[in-house]
Amino acid sequence: MHKLLKGVVLAGGTGSRLFPLTKVTNKHLLPVGRYPMIFHPLLRLQEAGITQIAIVTSPEHMGDVVNLLGSGQELGVDLTYRVQDEPGGIAQALGLCENFAGGDRLVTVLGDNILADSLAPHAAAYRAQDGGARVLLKKVQDAERYGVPRFEGDEIVEIIEKPANPPSAFAVTGIYFYDAQVFDFIRQLSPSRRGEYEVSDVNSSYVRHSKLTYGILDGWWGDAGTIDGWHEANALARNLAYESYPSTQGL
Ligand code: DAU
Repeated sequence: MHKLLKGVVLAGGTGSRLFPLTKVTNKHLLPVGRYPMIFHPLLRLQEAGITQIAIVTSPEHMGDVVNLLGSGQELGVDLTYRVQDEPGGIAQALGLCENFAGGDRLVTVLGDNILADSLAPHAAAYRAQDGGARVLLKKVQDAERYGVPRFEGDEIVEIIEKPANPPSAFAVTGIYFYDAQVFDFIRQLSPSRRGEYEVSDVNSSYVRHSKLTYGILDGWWGDAGTIDGWHEANALARNLAYESYPSTQGL
């Protein structure tokens, strides 16, 4: 069993919900608190000891992302870049990382997810698992905006993307732990009604094989991909500084 955990940060998509802020720049380069948005997932991975990281973004914005992050040295990470030619969904973007994964396990973080908690205990819980997948949940007021788990007892029996009538009050956050089987599941997917390869369908594949576990985030968590979410994330992250990022010293 492969125990190495590598990271993937997904930063493609169109950013259409933040238009015109995203007319000439990538959503993940907009500021959140003291940093460009994409620093948050990268530094959460880095402080959890996950330093081999692939970033997926669109052809239009790859140049800017590379200009910002370079090799990753300044953030203490070792970056690989993958281009997603068309925004065909989160699962499609992750599917581009199969060679990067090389059979190792992955933690995938959506580039617009901002969180207060360290990922270290969650990574440890996943490492202790015998493969499979693990998702992180957060109780929210507006579950219809997210992927939502349906429970029977304590067990997740289904994950539904943006349900009109959410079967629980939990969002599946954009932090996913997967073993190499994820790439087989992605190959078997069909596009959803909105024409995207959905991460909730990937998670449901693990559910069907009884291989999905979950943890719950204690601290605040936000998805900065909408105007309200972006403002909320900015307020919450205003004083957030990462000890592991040298440039924050002395602030
Ligand atoms: O934030 C958590 C939610 O993120 C989950 O609860 C949902 O299940 C999941 O589908 C996702 O929902 P969103 O509506 O927020 O997804 P969005 O289209 O905003 O994409 C989130 C990130 O994924 C985005 O910041 C960049 C990346 N992405 C997205 C698409 C569609 C890509 O890299 N490529 C893509 O084609």
